[in-house]
Amino acid sequence: MDRATYNNGRAAYNTGTAGRLRLTLHAKRGDKPLVSEPRREGSPNSVRAVKGMNDVLPSEVGRWHRIEAAFRRAMEWLGYREVRTPYVEPTPLFVRAIGETTDVVEKEMYSFSHHDEPLTLRPEGTAGIARAYVEHKIYNEEPITRWYYLGPMFRAERPQRGRYRQFSQLGAECFGDAGPGCDAEMIDSLVDFLRDIGIASPEVFINSIGSGDTRARYKQALVAKFVPVKDKLSAESQRRLVTNPLRILDSKNPVDRELVQDAPKVLDFLSDEDRAHWDALRRHLDALGTPYQIDTRLVRGLDYYGRTLFEIKGAYDKLGAGSTLIGGGRYDSMITELGGPQVPAIGFAAGIERLLIASEIQVPTSVVDVLVAPIGEEAFNAALVLGRDIRRVGIRCEVDTRKASIKALLRRANTLGARIALIVGERELRDGVVEMKDLAEHMQERVARADIVTRVATHVAMPFVAHKRAP
Ligand code: HAM
Repeated sequence: MDRATYNNGRAAYNTGTAGRLRLTLHAKRGDKPLVSEPRREGSPNSVRAVKGMNDVLPSEVGRWHRIEAAFRRAMEWLGYREVRTPYVEPTPLFVRAIGETTDVVEKEMYSFSHHDEPLTLRPEGTAGIARAYVEHKIYNEEPITRWYYLGPMFRAERPQRGRYRQFSQLGAECFGDAGPGCDAEMIDSLVDFLRDIGIASPEVFINSIGSGDTRARYKQALVAKFVPVKDKLSAESQRRLVTNPLRILDSKNPVDRELVQDAPKVLDFLSDEDRAHWDALRRHLDALGTPYQIDTRLVRGLDYYGRTLFEIKGAYDKLGAGSTLIGGGRYDSMITELGGPQVPAIGFAAGIERLLIASEIQVPTSVVDVLVAPIGEEAFNAALVLGRDIRRVGIRCEVDTRKASIKALLRRANTLGARIALIVGERELRDGVVEMKDLAEHMQERVARADIVTRVATHVAMPFVAHKRAP
């Protein structure tokens, strides 16, 4: 059928036969208001953003830049390079890599068919990055590959504070090193990164779910434990008992949580190799002085993991106890499952929105350093030239081209957080000068046009307290 149906949770639109996209949401639509969403006024006919997908307005972007820059720096210092993969991938990639019985694949993917090809908006980055690693045969080029990424992900979840349908992740994947030292270094560097962005007391939780054989034996033990009390389990956990028993440990249902209390612990089932990996991980973390807690119930919601699992939490007052800042772990068999050779891997991802909620950092709000204000028709071109000359020496400068009143121009300078306002009027033009106001110092002087750029540069570079005059 050549019709497109778009449904934003409030109304369905049909684009008619011209459209070629058929969008099928696999998620149940939550009707609760989004905590993080600003109250949006408008007539009933106004078009609004899709529920759970939020605008980031320029006033908020500075904090995003600060976190993204800190992340890039942290990763590049560790030898990681940025990779960018498509937002849309073939649906079977996620089914195969993440697992058919995970919440993400069962309920949360935005999947659609385009010319009969099943496609999905990426719900996470790891599967696409592993696909790119295999597709470009990167394993032939280097023994260890360290890649980081930032970008939007899409999951049709019930929106709430810190949980959105479009959200941004920053993350990294390391291919080619099976050793626990790699895991410990990654975890340790993340604690430093979180501190750098103003998250004071991050808490690290670690666990190991072993590799293939360990997990098979552990699953059997869980089934043996839960089958006799099956009827007491929630409907979801009863289903998980058949499809994915490990996920019962993750259940939020109070009765399930009670029953999980005395469930067998995966650490008691580790094979000799898995135990050696686990013990070494802890020794490395101890050597690095990274504080951590062992959480034997930590299983994580994606099926690709084996051995090391970790989560980092924090800012419980702002995010609630259940909200994870960073989640990650080892996935040593994904590359073979995607058609590559046996290459071990480990990675992590964080939701940038959650980091922003948790972080205490503030960023300067100034938009430009200088506002050039032309007064009168004749001064207009001179102001355009002056603005360009100032920008050419690397100073942020806006020319107010509205031809507004002096009062409105100065109000604009204030709103932009400009340090300097330069007034170019017809009289100044005639006298070959510019009126310079240092708005921080409440100082005003007439400066020769030939000297104005240097003079502005001196003022902008100087912290205003340093040359503040006595009252
Ligand atoms: P994940 O635990 O599904 O793991 O997500 C990682 C982080 O993304 C979460 O801890 C959270 O901060 C953020 N996040 C997840 N879902 C949402 C949402 N709906 N709204 C806002 N933030 C969200 C992964 O995605 C794995 N790919 C991590 C990984 C990389 N493992 C190995 N390599």
